[in-house]
Amino acid sequence: MANASGLYRPTLPTVRRKFTPSKGIHRTGFWFSEGGSKRVLCSSTVQGADKLSPSESRVPRLVSRGCKLVGCGSAVPGLQISNDDLAKFVDTNDEWISVRTGIRNRRVLSGKDSLTDLAAEAAKKALEMAEVDPDDVDLVLMCTSTPEDLFGSAPQIQKALGCKHNPLAYDITAACSGFVLGLVSAACYIRGGGFKNVLVIGADALSRYVDWTDRGSCILFGDAAGAVLVQACDSEEDGLFSFDLHSDGEGQRHLRATITENEADHVLGTNGSAVGFPPKNPSYSCIQMNGKEVFRFAVRVVPQSIEYALEKAGLTGSNIDWLLLHQANQRIIDAVATRLEVPSQRVISNLANYGNTSAASIPLALDEAVRSGKVKVGHTIAAAGFGAGLTWGSAIIRWG
Ligand code: ACO
Repeated sequence: MANASGLYRPTLPTVRRKFTPSKGIHRTGFWFSEGGSKRVLCSSTVQGADKLSPSESRVPRLVSRGCKLVGCGSAVPGLQISNDDLAKFVDTNDEWISVRTGIRNRRVLSGKDSLTDLAAEAAKKALEMAEVDPDDVDLVLMCTSTPEDLFGSAPQIQKALGCKHNPLAYDITAACSGFVLGLVSAACYIRGGGFKNVLVIGADALSRYVDWTDRGSCILFGDAAGAVLVQACDSEEDGLFSFDLHSDGEGQRHLRATITENEADHVLGTNGSAVGFPPKNPSYSCIQMNGKEVFRFAVRVVPQSIEYALEKAGLTGSNIDWLLLHQANQRIIDAVATRLEVPSQRVISNLANYGNTSAASIPLALDEAVRSGKVKVGHTIAAAGFGAGLTWGSAIIRWG
């Protein structure tokens, strides 16, 4: 186990899974031997949405150990809201929503429901599947844009899990790209920091920030939590083949929930003192979204990002077992699958039941697919997230 400074210290033995290579994986392109040491190519570039040129920032890094995904879990609120339920208070209907988005139901937090509790439940299930004791967790990454504490929800999850050694726990804010970012962060901690067991949780409650009178956006979102346990392993078993991450602050105008400004707070008095001091307690606006622009952005950048990550992994769309995108709109998923030439039978989709659950959508869909037996140990998955920020990114991973 690693302590906060990243130093490695041995832990109790945890589960060791048998490595079963998936058919069609070409190791060439992401593994190579050099002077006796093995290397994995990772990539990360930050450029404008329409200036995606992945040729830069390809810095090969020495990887002495690998990481793999060994457990998953998820949790959703009990309250289900159907399209027909929504049609009772906004001018919409089941046909419009299902044809334009593929969504039929979503789960919404209500009453005393807590997102932190959902996240802890998902995390517990992931630990159970991985057969890892909470005391052996070195790091908890809570990917969320809707924490229940401004200072971060992750420490509350660490507390709920009962991790005795006070492992580091913190939040990652990257909207619907959050989980992919968390996964890559976990890999970096394991490969470079000596961490052994990293919990990556994606959890969001966008229902709390939706304008429930805006039919253009309120129909899309639901609440959920999903978690994955990423574990250190021999470098030969490494299960994160490649990744590609981006952001573009220019695109924020198309999708945001910004702090509400009070002009009086900024007016200066004649003696130079601030009239609006002390400032009022701020709040966030509801989600403001230009759906058409977000749609165009997604179908443009997501295939580019996955293609780049696949190329780095020495794979193509025909080599992967599953395409697992952030569950925003079935039309976006279909467009990306068509562009990558991935047949619909190899596309994971569960947004009909849950809508867009932001950072939770990928681990929630992964958990369902693993527990139903669709995704098996050794399967290769191309996963991609995209959304507010704007942010987007993809990771080519192997399950188990
Ligand atoms: N019910 C009925 N009619 C509607 C509804 C509704 N819920 N919403 C819009 N309409 C109407 C519009 O008023 C418009 O009517 P008009 O032609 O008379 O003007 C018509 O339907 C078409 O509206 P559009 O907005 O053009 O519909 P579009 O096909 O673009 O679908 C949608 C809208 C579903 C929002 C789509 O643009 C989309 O999915 N965009 C991507 C959103 C997304 O992925 N967001 C990710 C957020 S992730 C994150 O980070 C939070």
